[in-house]
Amino acid sequence: MKFFIDTANLDQIKEAQDLGVLDGVTTNPSLMAKEGITGEQNILDHYVKICNLVEGPVSAEVISTDFEGMVKEGERLAELHENIVVKIPMIKDGVKALKYFSSKGIRTNCTLVFSAGQALLAAKAGASFVSPFIGRLDDVSTDGLELIEQIRLIYDNYMYDTEILAASVRHTMHVIKCAEIGADVMTGPLSSITGLLNHPLTDIGLEKFLADYKKGNS
Ligand code: G3P
Repeated sequence: MKFFIDTANLDQIKEAQDLGVLDGVTTNPSLMAKEGITGEQNILDHYVKICNLVEGPVSAEVISTDFEGMVKEGERLAELHENIVVKIPMIKDGVKALKYFSSKGIRTNCTLVFSAGQALLAAKAGASFVSPFIGRLDDVSTDGLELIEQIRLIYDNYMYDTEILAASVRHTMHVIKCAEIGADVMTGPLSSITGLLNHPLTDIGLEKFLADYKKGNS
């Protein structure tokens, strides 16, 4: 399973990159605003900074909600760097834009997906990635992981190339369950990646190994 980090924070991206397990980055307008990145040019420059930090895909989201606007914005984003994946919302004009970008060989990530039907549409329109938001479904007492299972089944039935990018991942159990189900990618906060490191028995075991070494070598 690929690991993407869901942030626009350069330090956190660098930290995940240093660990050597990072495959890409996802951003959205809220995450950019959280870092205080405002103004069109600053936002574009920030995407380039992110692309220069990582080797994999970097999702950059359009703000337009009409087909022409999404095409114009998406083409501009795609020109910024070869790693850019244009993030398109799951709305009617978005589906048309996914199809357009697919025909032009521009990679896309269909965002704000909350149902299997939406994921099926995204795949048919040729999205490179589909982003079901599992944490936000959990927030409204609906099992987000069940949606990942449904999409996995549908995509396997028809051998769709669209990668399932489990988004709105909140914690390590989301990551582990997504890996069990067979999500292609997960995107979450830095803590959802570094949290996988932790086990008290590892700490206790290491402490004992080091203490025993010291005893024998002092
Ligand atoms: O990738 C989508 C993500 O940014 C949404 O996460 O935690 O705001 O639901 P969250």
